[in-house]
Amino acid sequence: MTQPMTIGECVAAGARQLSAAGIVDARREARLILAHALGVEPVAVSGYPERPVPDPEAFERLIARRARREPLSHLTGQREFWSLTLETGPATLDPRPDSESLVEAALGVVPDRTAPLSVLDLGTGTGCLLLAVLSELPRAAGLGIDVSPAALAVARRNAERVGMASRTRFEPGDWGRRLDGQFDLILCNPPYIPTGEIAELQPEVADFEPRIALDGGADGLDAYRVVVPDIMRLLAAGGAAVLEFGAGQGAAVTQIVTAEGLVIDRMTRDLAGHERCATIRKR
Ligand SMILES: C[S@@+](CC[C@H](N)C(=O)[O-])C[C@H]1O[C@@H](n2cnc3c(N)ncnc32)[C@H](O)[C@@H]1O
Repeated sequence: MTQPMTIGECVAAGARQLSAAGIVDARREARLILAHALGVEPVAVSGYPERPVPDPEAFERLIARRARREPLSHLTGQREFWSLTLETGPATLDPRPDSESLVEAALGVVPDRTAPLSVLDLGTGTGCLLLAVLSELPRAAGLGIDVSPAALAVARRNAERVGMASRTRFEPGDWGRRLDGQFDLILCNPPYIPTGEIAELQPEVADFEPRIALDGGADGLDAYRVVVPDIMRLLAAGGAAVLEFGAGQGAAVTQIVTAEGLVIDRMTRDLAGHERCATIRKR
């Protein structure tokens, strides 16, 4: 990049570099990256193209990382989910807008939002699902489980960040294997990409997101075979579990769920209209 002197020149040069790297929304991303580098709100960048950028080096380094297809959220260290601003990074799956349909489905089965419910989140990652659900259930408390200690550290910081540390615990575990007790609401978004399809994903995902958050085994369904029996054991009578799955996996997940003696109450679609999660109950 040549030495840009103004905000407008920085954005234009950054956008050219990102566009050449195959990034579709290059100009918008260049603006967000510049705002992050300068420590200002994005509006301060879009509204004042003539302002000088005395030292564009930090911006240039971030643009170079993004041009290597590192996710924007890894550059900024955060991502919005259900109107919560959460820390994310290399140890965690980036919360996806599609997963908000799981949050909606979970809240949809709660008849009384002021009840003191117990919520379990298996494979919590950033803690996004648990924290989003708890943000709407003021008297509920939650336990997030993950096999990754680094993800658990992020989830704990996120709980602090959104003021929910006193209502949450995050513990290491292999799905629900060593847990006992009964939970009113169980959330789970397990890894569900078939191993052979991971390399075909966008580089932001395939090269930068944790493999353990993506890889669902040969058919993408390995985790469901473990988690569904855990749900059967840990779900309180009258409670519900909401399980996310990949596009086209609804029938296979239904089979695993019903073979365990559980019933599917409802399928919820994501923003693109794909079946995205199953609400499960005991018979
Ligand atoms: C698809 S990510 C979902 C993360 C988060 N719940 C979300 O919706 O963004 C799956 C998560 O499951 C965790 N995981 C993978 N294998 C696990 C296991 N055996 N036991 C517990 N968690 C596991 C991963 O570390 C990852 O955080």
